[in-house]
Amino acid sequence: MPWRAAVRRQLTRALGIGGPIALQRQMPGLNDMFKGIPALGLYLHVPFCRQICPYCPYNKTLYRPKLAEAYAQAVIKEIDLYASLLGPRPITSFYIGGGTPTTMLQQGLPAILDHVARRFNLQCGIHMESHPNDLSVENLATIQALGVDNLSIGVEALQDRHLRCLQRPYDVAQAQAAVERAVKAGFTCLNADMIFALPGQTYGEVEEAGTRLLQWGVDQIAAYPLFTFSYTAWSRLHQSHRAHFTVLQRRKMLSILEAVLYGAGFRRTSVWAFTRHGVPKYCSVTVPIYLGLGASGSSYLKDVFFVNTFNVPQYIAALEGGRPPIALSLALSDRMQMAGWLYWRIYETRFRISDFRSRFGRDLWSVYGPWLALMECCRLLRRSGDHIILSDCGAYWLHVLQDVFSTDYISRLWGTAKADPWPLRVILR
Ligand SMILES: C[S@@+](CC[C@H](N)C(=O)[O-])C[C@H]1O[C@@H](n2cnc3c(N)ncnc32)[C@H](O)[C@@H]1O
Ligand code: SF4
Repeated sequence: MPWRAAVRRQLTRALGIGGPIALQRQMPGLNDMFKGIPALGLYLHVPFCRQICPYCPYNKTLYRPKLAEAYAQAVIKEIDLYASLLGPRPITSFYIGGGTPTTMLQQGLPAILDHVARRFNLQCGIHMESHPNDLSVENLATIQALGVDNLSIGVEALQDRHLRCLQRPYDVAQAQAAVERAVKAGFTCLNADMIFALPGQTYGEVEEAGTRLLQWGVDQIAAYPLFTFSYTAWSRLHQSHRAHFTVLQRRKMLSILEAVLYGAGFRRTSVWAFTRHGVPKYCSVTVPIYLGLGASGSSYLKDVFFVNTFNVPQYIAALEGGRPPIALSLALSDRMQMAGWLYWRIYETRFRISDFRSRFGRDLWSVYGPWLALMECCRLLRRSGDHIILSDCGAYWLHVLQDVFSTDYISRLWGTAKADPWPLRVILR
């Protein structure tokens, strides 16, 4: 939509980024890519699913045992590629996402995790996504034996009619049984994903969704409004979906969830997530610096962002040929690094002002003072000592901003990368 592009243009200009963001088919310098990085996070992408959900934007393909086996071998080669470059730097967070990581639970994942532990200096637990249909008692035991101590379950909807609309292959009773088995197995933090603003959803159903997940005993709820990505089947099936709920209706749905979850003693730990008091949050990949492994794995390393090819056979072929599977890269100017850092720290809803100086050697107020003052004036955030804390209202407007930026940027970048394994360039406007 032209107005969204106009808002993006104005905002990026005002933040000093200027011009469109252009990712190029250009290999970043491997030898000094970790220079000046004392520690980092790790992401592993598992691009397999047992069925493809029409609304899902992520890079995935149908699970085939032979392909998954070759994929595991390729990931092991990618680990070797980075091991000597990383040296003894500690890995301080490790996130396995997808796709559906639990498709490779019995075959592939154990070998990959064993290799990560042998070649990298892993100083953290493992956080992993899972599908409700994969959570038998045996599989949960395997998940824990692999060292996964924080688990997320894609429950998505809490009424059968919405599960059917999303084409999820289980009903509410089956999802409940899976969640309760996981609760019984015991994880440091058990997260459940749910989607709201589903076609025809009522406010009462949103409240019931939050209440049910609480009753089932999860430690964290990540509640996303349904985003429509232009290259998904959903976009074709529900052309007019964006218009189903206004910004204010979605705001009301999120407020209903906030009331239910705060009432149960949960606290907000990101724009989307609410965590039980006293439980450390289930983390996603919002750590400031991370390396991404696997097809479509992306890396954010101080002054460079790069993304691997999305195509699974091409990813495997590149590594079998001894080549890095990197498809696109973007050198990050100082202004881009600072804006990206601030965006993700605000996204986490609370951060230390002094961390900006530690990372960039500059005072946060000297760079973003007028912006932060404006947000403070509009009660979107507040200062408390060395902390900046986002309000619920701020969290909602950040979501609106995210919708304006991320859905179009992701549709453009991921849509192109899905269609072409090695694009020449992708321009984000
Ligand atoms: C990789 S999936 C989760 C793991 C597993 N594949 C599953 O489906 O159960 C990550 C999460 O993204 C969210 N998600 C996916 N597509 C979405 C969309 N179009 N809008 C909002 N959230 C979405 C869902 O909540 C989903 O659980
Ligand atoms: S939502 Fe999960 S299971 Fe469905 S296609 Fe996406 S990654 Fe796969």
